[in-house]
Amino acid sequence: MPASAHLTLDPAFVVGPVRRRTFGSFVEHLGRCVYTGIHDPGHPTADADGFRQDVIDLVKELGVGTVRYPGGNFVSGYRWEDGIGPVEQRPRRLDLAWHSTDPNTVGVDEFMRWCAKADIEPMMAVNLGTRGVQEALDLLEYTNVVGGTHFADLRRSHGQEEPYRIRMWCLGNEMDGPWQIGHKTAEEYARLAKETANAMRMVDPDLELVVCGSSSSSMPTFGSWEATVLAETYENIDYVSAHAYYQEKDGDLASFLASAVDMDRFIESVVATADHVRAVGRHEKRINISFDEWNVWYQDRVASDIAKGDDWPVAPRLLEDRYNVADAVVVGSLLISLLRHTDRVHSASLAQLVNVIAPIMTEPGGRVWKQTTFHPFSLTATHAQGEVLQVALSSPTHSTARFGEVTSLDAVATRDAETGAVSLFAVNRSTTEPLELQVSLAALGGNLELVEALTYANDDHTWSATADDSESVLPEPNGSARLADGVLSVTLPPISWSCVRLQG
Ligand code: AHR
Repeated sequence: MPASAHLTLDPAFVVGPVRRRTFGSFVEHLGRCVYTGIHDPGHPTADADGFRQDVIDLVKELGVGTVRYPGGNFVSGYRWEDGIGPVEQRPRRLDLAWHSTDPNTVGVDEFMRWCAKADIEPMMAVNLGTRGVQEALDLLEYTNVVGGTHFADLRRSHGQEEPYRIRMWCLGNEMDGPWQIGHKTAEEYARLAKETANAMRMVDPDLELVVCGSSSSSMPTFGSWEATVLAETYENIDYVSAHAYYQEKDGDLASFLASAVDMDRFIESVVATADHVRAVGRHEKRINISFDEWNVWYQDRVASDIAKGDDWPVAPRLLEDRYNVADAVVVGSLLISLLRHTDRVHSASLAQLVNVIAPIMTEPGGRVWKQTTFHPFSLTATHAQGEVLQVALSSPTHSTARFGEVTSLDAVATRDAETGAVSLFAVNRSTTEPLELQVSLAALGGNLELVEALTYANDDHTWSATADDSESVLPEPNGSARLADGVLSVTLPPISWSCVRLQG
């Protein structure tokens, strides 16, 4: 008999709303994310702006709501003015972050046109590495001011009459990291971020501003960085960022599958720090989290090696990780963690969207295909609706080298009170044992029906999609799912992610 786990769902116990911004992603001028990724003028599906329609179709199917742009490490050396105006007059520039050349064929206007086509809310980052308050203000004037001044009229002269009115702005990127161009101490950054935020709000008081938190919870300054930066900027900003990447290290699959334990702790630590600063400063409002970079990333693999010396390639193949089924299970479980914290995580970005540690891959001028990680993201973005419910979870546990004893089951549920749709997302993190999951649904009423149970798993969890075969392992109907007497039962195979949908 498989070990059994149990959940109880009750519509009275709500964590918070499902936010479309939780299903954000990230487009950086890095490798082939932009050039030959979203933008490939020679491609048979490219539109008049050079954007691939086949990629846009998959972006929509993925269910992405927001996209962060243009970096990442790239933004800390970026001059946004290089990317506007007639394309043939734009300068080619060294991209120091990724030892590449940026031809600047795509800039802010092209990106905004792509967002409109892909039905995406933009999230813009300003350069606080090599630049500062003035350049951030100039960009904001270009994007958000109606007209009658230099940069606003410049935008209009480039064919965009109406301001873009971009709401979400990141004040720099990973400024705590010594690898960052223009890296700063917490005090230096906090001061610059505060002054930038202050001035940006003079242009547009409705902005939502994200201050840089830590680039990982293993940074030596983690915790103290947030405390210092928030103490200085608390009244000027709305969100603090968090970034986390996970990988299977030294063959320790059990720990890797439990990566969401680390993400849970990360989120809860940043919330505790933000609330401490709130208490000390006697502040009214709460600062929430923008988890604006998260994913599985095999940083030690060759795919992450950047060029050297005199070689400054355009759109090199960088960070083109190939994901397997276990990676997809981890991506699904990280989304469970983000949803579970929807009261304090108000925005998140899967890093990145196309080709670079991405769910969507392209061949230059050729095919587009889905990686394994596409599936849990797309199904969660589609079916997580309404409100996130607390799940009273009881589960067998198993031990892991990194996180000690962890529950084998991880799960979250959502309920849309208007449509009656209930969705359960569940992961079995055991590498060996199936789990018999029972879910008490009595509090949701007697007329619930089982709509669909899909499970993503494979006997060989190392299977990866390729351009030639991206479909032989897909989420499959889970025939074990039953609903009787207000109890849902379903068997979850080891190393699996599942989505069970009910209708009331
Ligand atoms: O997403 C890849 C890189 O990871 C980003 O440029 C940077 O912000 C992070 O370190």
